[in-house]
Amino acid sequence: AAALKPRISVIGTGYLGATHAAAMAELGFDVVGVDTDPAKVELLAGGRVPFFEPGLEELLARHLATGRLSFTTDLAEAVAMSDVHFVCVGTPQQATSHAADLRFVESAVAGIARALSHDGIVVGKSTVPVGTAARLRELLGALAPEGVSTELIWNPEFLREGKAVDDTLHPDRVVIGGASPAAERVMRQVYGQPIAEGAPFLAMGLTTAELVKVSANAFLATKISFINAIAELCTVADADVNALADAIGFDGRIGRRFLDAGLGFGGGCLPKDIRALMHRAAELGALEVVGLMEQVDEINMAQRQRVVDLALEACGGSVLNARIGVLGAAFKPLTDDVRDSPALNVAAALHLRGAQVTVFDPEAGETARRMFPTLSYADDTLTAVDGAHVVLLLTEWSEFLDADPEELGRRVRARTVVDARNKLDRERWTAAGWTVIGLGTGVTA
Ligand code: UGA
Repeated sequence: AAALKPRISVIGTGYLGATHAAAMAELGFDVVGVDTDPAKVELLAGGRVPFFEPGLEELLARHLATGRLSFTTDLAEAVAMSDVHFVCVGTPQQATSHAADLRFVESAVAGIARALSHDGIVVGKSTVPVGTAARLRELLGALAPEGVSTELIWNPEFLREGKAVDDTLHPDRVVIGGASPAAERVMRQVYGQPIAEGAPFLAMGLTTAELVKVSANAFLATKISFINAIAELCTVADADVNALADAIGFDGRIGRRFLDAGLGFGGGCLPKDIRALMHRAAELGALEVVGLMEQVDEINMAQRQRVVDLALEACGGSVLNARIGVLGAAFKPLTDDVRDSPALNVAAALHLRGAQVTVFDPEAGETARRMFPTLSYADDTLTAVDGAHVVLLLTEWSEFLDADPEELGRRVRARTVVDARNKLDRERWTAAGWTVIGLGTGVTA
């Protein structure tokens, strides 16, 4: 007989949890999302997503309407209503070290354990240092009531911000760690549609699943820092890193994706995850990983300094009182997330050196203002570049790439742009009289 459809709870409703909850409702399950923040729960329950994520608000509205999706601050009530409990809370970097702060995952698992009134599976999705899941499993075992059968498994998530809905509904693969045969059957049921669409279902041990997630992000970060190191070489050797990346990318073993040289990676995941990996690898004595990740981090941060230096150079050695127009604040396009944003980092560094920096971002203006209230913010591209001695393109929103260089040119003091993402159409910009300075793509005038 077909197993009953499991009911789902999702603990933590940030990028990961809110998207996962809505996506599970889309796959046909009854889902309750839980968060300790009443303001967030109220927004979500009212059909509003507290951050910018394309397509998520529509999905949310659809399943609030179907009645399959609800939100609450009451963890015990949510656990009582469901059979599979996804843990999607954050694991931020600790204030005083590179280690991950595990307070939220621990309290989520403890909370679920205490609230269990019938059998259920606890599924960890948060990104954690290897070894955490085994400890959480013990915690669950110690706190779960007598007579209730439960187990903890790991199911890492690979979604990207800006593409979160699509990545969740159509994952490249589903990874399940440490599941008993019964729990594996439930997970195959939960991810039935993506599996039917061809997503490989990969069952493995608990610690391997934890490490899959961390290694995937570490590899992506390494790819970016590799091409940024080559970009430095291109600069001094007078070569073009874009053409080079295209050419090596055709080798299927290398692949062109994630080989865009420029300002480097930021956001709430890659920087924090490689640092947490360094910390954990050092604890475990895996020193090669520590050295490799230190280099990846260092190369990445050097790109930010490089852009600051290019701006200084463009302004004749000092930016004191220079007007600088900054295009982009988010850590990448299609998000309003400014956590560890390279763009804001560069803007703030130039501001500290006495420049008059004006920032515009199509979506991240508000979140940026909250994080760096001392910078000036414009409401559109043209105002941002008004009277600028140099323009910096720091986040490659299509709105910037499509902007008319002639129109921008009429607003600035000097037609010099640092294209820190190597994405501008050089022919168009130079035809309009601009000097375009790239990172590993030379200077065109
Ligand atoms: C990243 C991973 O791509 C996801 O698979 C993972 O699930 C997620 O972290 C996570 O751990 O939650 P995300 O942080 O949303 O996703 O952003 P990415 O699209 O990976 O971009 C990261 C940064 O790398 C951005 O700042 C982007 O500008 C930069 N980047 C990306 C480059 O500098 N060059 C490239 O070629 C690609």
